[in-house]
Amino acid sequence: MLRVKTGISGFDELINGGFPKGNLVLLSGLTGSGKTIFATQYLVNGVKQYNERGLLISFEQIREDIIDQSNELGWDLLKLEKEKKLKVVTYTPNKMIFSAVLQEIKALIQEFKPDRIVLDSISTYGIYAETIAYIEILEKMGMQKSQFSFQLGPEVATRKAIVDMLEALKNQKATSIIISELPESTNFLSRDTISEFLCDGVVLLKHVSIGDSLNRNLEVRKMRKTDIRGGPRTYNITAKGIVIEAGG
Ligand SMILES: Nc1ncnc2c1ncn2[C@@H]1O[C@H](COP(=O)(O)OP(=O)(O)OP(=O)(O)O)[C@@H](O)[C@H]1O
Ligand SMILES: [Mg+2]
Repeated sequence: MLRVKTGISGFDELINGGFPKGNLVLLSGLTGSGKTIFATQYLVNGVKQYNERGLLISFEQIREDIIDQSNELGWDLLKLEKEKKLKVVTYTPNKMIFSAVLQEIKALIQEFKPDRIVLDSISTYGIYAETIAYIEILEKMGMQKSQFSFQLGPEVATRKAIVDMLEALKNQKATSIIISELPESTNFLSRDTISEFLCDGVVLLKHVSIGDSLNRNLEVRKMRKTDIRGGPRTYNITAKGIVIEAGG
C-alpha cells in the first residue's frame, strides 16, 4: 500500500504513515478551524518534501487572498507555480463558468497531471449548483409547466453536481482532499450529508472556546485500508501552519 504523506507534524502517524494513494479524503470542519491551511500545507509539503505536483481548486476565496494567506505562513505559492509544481485555480459564482467547470477541471487534471488535489470546498460548489438550478427554474417560469416538470429540482441538482465532481476526482490518480463545511450542530460529517459516504476518508476539525482559550481538536473518523489511531488530538495553528500535539 503506497502512502501519501501530508508532512503535517503529528498527523501521518495517526493513519499508518499517510493517506492511501489515490484516495479521496474529506476534510470537514467548522468555519475558521483551519481547513484551508491544512489543505494548502498538504500541497506545499507535497512539492517541497516529496516532489509531488499539487492542484488547488478553490470556490471559496479569490486568488489574491489565497496567495496572501499562504505568504503569511511562509509559503510562496507563486514561486511554486513558476516552477510548474503547483497550480491554483479559482472560480466565482457565474453561470457561464459553472456549466463548464467540471469539464474544465477534468481537462486541467489530464494536462497538469497533479499528484495531489485540493478542492475548497465541496459545500460552496454545491451551493453554486443549487443557486444555478433555482435560476434555471425561474427562467423557465414563462413556459408551460409540463415543459419544466422533468427538470431537476435544486436539491437534486446539488447532489448530482457533488456526486459528479467526486466521481471525477476519484477516477484519476491523484490523492485528493475535499474540504467541507461543518455546521455548528449536526450529526452528519459534512454540510451536504453525502460527501462523507462518497469519500474514502474523513478528517474532522473542531474548536471549542474554554474560558479565554480556544481548544482545537482533530479526529480521523474514517480512512479506508488504514488502522486509525483514533480519538481526538489537540492541534494548533502556528506561524508555520498546523501542528498536532503529540499524544494530545
Ligand atoms: N499565523 C497564524 N497564527 C495562528 N493562527 C492563525 C494564523 N493564520 C491563521 N490562523 C488561524 O486560522 C484560521 C483560519 O484558517 P483557515 O482559513 O484555514 O480556516 P477554514 O477552516 O478554511 O475557514 P473557512 O470555513 O472560513 O474557510 C483563523 O481563524 C485563525 O484562527
Ligand atoms: Mg477555508
